[in-house]
Amino acid sequence: NPLPKLFQPLTIRGLTLKNRLVASPMCMYSSQDGFATDFHLVHIGQFAMSGLGLTIMEASGVSPEGRITPNCLGIWKDEHIEKLQQITRFVHANKSAVGIQLAHAGRKASTTAPWLIKKLGANATPENGGWPESVVAPSDVAYDERSWKPHELTIEEIQRIQKHFADAAVRADKAGFDVIEIHGAHGYLIHEFLSPISNKRTDQYGGSFDNRVRFVIETVRKVREVWPGDKPLFVRLSITDWVAPSEDIPTGGWTEEESIELAKRLSAEGVDLIDCSTSGSSPKQSIPLGPGYQVRFATSIKNGVPGILTGAVGLITDAVQANDILEQDKADLVFVGRVLLREPNFVLDGALKLGVFPQYPHQYERGRNKTKLTF
Ligand code: FNR
Repeated sequence: NPLPKLFQPLTIRGLTLKNRLVASPMCMYSSQDGFATDFHLVHIGQFAMSGLGLTIMEASGVSPEGRITPNCLGIWKDEHIEKLQQITRFVHANKSAVGIQLAHAGRKASTTAPWLIKKLGANATPENGGWPESVVAPSDVAYDERSWKPHELTIEEIQRIQKHFADAAVRADKAGFDVIEIHGAHGYLIHEFLSPISNKRTDQYGGSFDNRVRFVIETVRKVREVWPGDKPLFVRLSITDWVAPSEDIPTGGWTEEESIELAKRLSAEGVDLIDCSTSGSSPKQSIPLGPGYQVRFATSIKNGVPGILTGAVGLITDAVQANDILEQDKADLVFVGRVLLREPNFVLDGALKLGVFPQYPHQYERGRNKTKLTF
């Protein structure tokens, strides 16, 4: 019997993943000045030990102003590299792979870590380490009436941020990461350029589809130039804004059709995989949540764009469900998030459910034997 597809290896450029289960990027709000800590070593380390094929580390600021919160991870200076190196070394020693998500939060920057909101409020003020004066976006339109009002980026500032992404990619390579995922989803800077909800520009970066995708295309090009040719490049997109057409936005925001066209262009720029999420650009969004509710977008991108790989994510909570997605060719990788935070043995249990001999770390192998103990 062939292995269930979830546990079949997948080669992307020079990287072979031992299986197709990926830890989705998740902010841990556990950094100061962008530095990874022992928390990240143990957190990412246990994902690697648990048998995942790949872990994508959380949204990491390409500049201090690009962080979501003062506690977010960063990769904007060379001093960040050393601790990240320790993490990638550990992951590799445990026969797993690890990527990093490069991010700029745009108008959603300078907010408060979830568990501090009650005490400090949702917006991070300068007293609490925030930077409201430096919150930027394609246009000076706030996310909602409670959010910081961003200032509109100049062309020079746009080019500087694109350089920050490229410089971060160089550091990611030095730190030993196997994959870069560019965060183009969830209403952060790149998505803000894509969506007509947040992009009201009238220059070459706003208006038409060609203009709204210009920022991400140029950014990807600059990253691909410095990111080694044998290393995979992923982009996470919000495939749809889930916003109904209205008088001020007749298109209803960024759409699935636009995502398919963008994915074609990203593929031509050397992007290997689109990680297919949704939403985040407007409080008016209406999301039909349910098991695997975003999987169909991974399928439409995969079917609409020859040669591209896709990742499915969102309420995939069971190994059988994950394996079915792959067996039915609906996606190439399955990203899981929250289930990993509550079920540390997700991969192990999944292997057992699918009849696969679980791969324990050597150090844990004696745990397989429930009764006989030899010394
Ligand atoms: C997230 N998510 C997320 N997404 C992303 O692209 N970058 C990030 O840094 C984060 N951070 C983050 C933190 C936490 C605590 C959660 C729960 C989620 C979204 C995440 O990657 C995933 O897309 C969603 O959680 C949906 O998948 P699950 O959790 O239903 O498997």
